This record gives sequence, structure tokens and C-alpha cells, in this order.
Amino acid sequence: MGGDSGIRAFQGRFLTLTDDPAYGNSALRYIEDGLMIVENGLITAIGDRPALRHRLARGTIVHNLGRRLVLPGFVDTHVHMPQLDVIARHGAQLLDWLERYTFPEESRFADPDHAAEVSALFCGELLRNGTTSAMAFCTVHPGSVDAVFQAAETLGMRMTAGKSAMDRNAPDTLMDTAQTSYDDNKALIARWHGRGRLTYAVTPRFAATSSTAQLRLAGALLGEHDGLLMQTHLSENRAEVDWVLSLFPECDHYLDVYRHFGLLTDRSLFAHAIHLSDGEFAMLADHGGTIAHCPTSNFFLGSGLFDSARAAAAGVCFGLGSDVGAGTGFSMFQTMAGAYKVSQMCGTPLDAPRLFYLATLGGARAIRQDAHIGSLEPGKEADFIVLDPEATPLLARRTARSDSIADLLFALAMLGDDRLVCETYVMGRRVYSKAP
Ligand code: GUN
Ligand code: ZN
Repeated sequence: MGGDSGIRAFQGRFLTLTDDPAYGNSALRYIEDGLMIVENGLITAIGDRPALRHRLARGTIVHNLGRRLVLPGFVDTHVHMPQLDVIARHGAQLLDWLERYTFPEESRFADPDHAAEVSALFCGELLRNGTTSAMAFCTVHPGSVDAVFQAAETLGMRMTAGKSAMDRNAPDTLMDTAQTSYDDNKALIARWHGRGRLTYAVTPRFAATSSTAQLRLAGALLGEHDGLLMQTHLSENRAEVDWVLSLFPECDHYLDVYRHFGLLTDRSLFAHAIHLSDGEFAMLADHGGTIAHCPTSNFFLGSGLFDSARAAAAGVCFGLGSDVGAGTGFSMFQTMAGAYKVSQMCGTPLDAPRLFYLATLGGARAIRQDAHIGSLEPGKEADFIVLDPEATPLLARRTARSDSIADLLFALAMLGDDRLVCETYVMGRRVYSKAP
């Protein structure tokens, strides 16, 4: 386990969302002169330093993080490990992009050495960007799941991942069958699910690349083990939607396909969900399914605009996803900036506390891990990041003119990237430090 023995304490400026700020300002907690105590990787106390100092055992070393800002680690609810090298490929929308760039690249993951190399880079890239937890797609190859879990476990990261399943409409090199997919999942679940900070996700890629038999077995598998999650894609691109409806004429709409096969549960996360009908939003809310909103990907592939206000009004929980490699970066700052711009296009701009909520606790809720991560509160795992609001000349100038915490956060969300992230901690242990 990525645990940490002993007691550590951190002094600094702390900022965390303890609930969805849509329901009130008290959700944003800012501690100007704060102290956080971490025992065995868990936060045991956080608050004003003068009030908490007496709680420190004699001899505890206090790490002074200065005037930098300490936030919970970001949660990326949707990202593809094997697409690290697909990032920034020009000129295609979803279905062509899959054929032209993505499937050929994913075929390379039959080689376990390649999978191990990219998985280590992938986890390193997440941490460098301040993302301490992710829900990740792997390829069809079980070895790609072994590789990503191995890399995450070595670093002590909380990681959710699964082998993608495809048994039609994909290259031979990337196809399994309904039965081999079920069997491989079983073996991977036995090996990894619930081990330390790792969670397994049943991962049918999307309805268009799975037969009814494969979807049915995936749905059955979900009910066979406690704590599994399910991840897939939903209603991202109009041509994709038409294709899926033609493949499943008996279903009322795209989401109904997943419901039909037992894949729509309160532990199911759907990436994109852009072109949903009111009926689909209502069905998602009824079943407790959640959404990964992936704005940089949606711009990049020209997929459309996710209407976050509509999702919220329907009572559907959603978080943010980088969706690398269709997404254009691992940074949740870029992702927040994208989400803001999409919300502007939809006429209902998200504010800064909401953006940071979505990148932290909201994401943790969407992947059902908020009992452990997403905020800096006693009992949570001590995954946090240390940000320098003056990391670039422009940020320094702009943040010096901030007259409120909300304004400071907004400037960080719009202008930030990996340069802001000075240090990243998991379970109270530093796993990334920016070169000076
Ligand atoms: N739909 C099915 N597969 C994918 C994928 O790899 N990326 C994105 N963005 N959408 C998908
Ligand atoms: Zn995706």
C-alpha cells in the first residue's frame, strides 16, 4: 500500500471545497495561516495554526510550505493511458480519429514493455500536473491494465482503470470476444481490485464496438463483485449517435442501450454525454449514473458543447476529464478553462469555486471515491498539491491584482498549467517536485 508511517505536519495557505458550492458559499474553505496534520497517510486535523499547534506531538517536523497555496490533488475522471502518444493529431472527428490515429497506437500495447514504459510516463505526467487520482481506460490487452496499476501502486496513487472491451467494428489486433473479455476481467479483478488504492472498472469502450453478448456479460460482471465501477463513452459525436442507434434499433436512445444490458448503475460513469435528450438526462439521474465532462477533447474533435447547467438541473453528478489523447493536455487547469468557455457558450458561466469543486471533490464524487479523496478534511487521504500563484510573470501580475479568493482561483483556472504545480503529495508523501 502507498501508506505512510508516522506523523507529518504541513504549514501553509489551505484551500478546499467541502461540498458543491452551487449549494452555498460555506463549501469553500480557505485557511490563511493553516496547519494540516497527517498520520499514516490520512489527514487527522486541519485548521488555523494557532488553534491546532497544541495537537502536534513533541518533535513533529512541520514542513513550511510558505505563501504557496495547498489544494487537494486533482481528480481526472476520464483519461486514456494508451493515448499519451495520440495527443495533438490533426484533422479528424471522433470516428475517423479512432481509425486513423488511435487504434493503430493502441495496437502497440500488446507489448508489455511498451505498456510499462507509457504507464510510468502517464502517472508521471498526471502527478506533474497535480492530478493525484484518475479513472483511466487501458487497451484491450490485459497487460496494459497490469502496467498502469503497477505504476500507480509503485507511486501510491489512488487509481481506477480497466481493460477496454471491443468485439466488433475494430481492427483484429484490438478485439477480444464476449467470453475472453469476461475471463480477462475476472482475472484482472482478482489481481488488482481493492488492492491498496486500486479500483477496477468494467470498460466496454462504447456501444458501437461491442456485441450484445459482450455488453450482456459486462453487465453481469458488474453485479458479481462489490465496489466495481463501470466506464464507457456516451453520445459524444452526432455520427456516433446515429451509428449506435442503427446498431440497436430496439433501444429508445443511446443511454437506453447501456441500461438494457445492466450497465447503467450508480457506479457507472459516462464520458461526454453531449447530445442527450431530456429523457436520457432523466434516466441518468434516476439510476445515479455520472458524467465525465471533457471540454478540451470536445473542442479538439469538434464534438459539441456539454451543457453543464442542464446536467445540474437534471440532478446528474459530473466531474471533469482530460480525455487525453483527444483532450489536449493533462492539466486540470486547462480543463477548467475549457469547462468555463463551454459554459459561456451555453449561456451559464461556471464560477471559480464550482470549477475547482469539479476538478477535486466533484470528480471524486463522480467516480465514487469521495469518502477517501477530493477535499482536505480529517479522515481523507492526504493527497494534495502545492501551487505557486506567481509561477509566471503574467500570473504574478494578475494574481497580485486579485481582490478575493474567488478571483484568485479564477485567474489560476484560466491561466494555469503545470508550471503552477510546485509539489504533489500522495498519502502525505511527496511524489513530485518541480525543478527549481
Ligand atoms: N469513443 C470511443 N472510444 C473513444 C476514445 O478513445 N476517445 C474518445 N474521445 N471517444 C471515444
Ligand atoms: Zn475517452
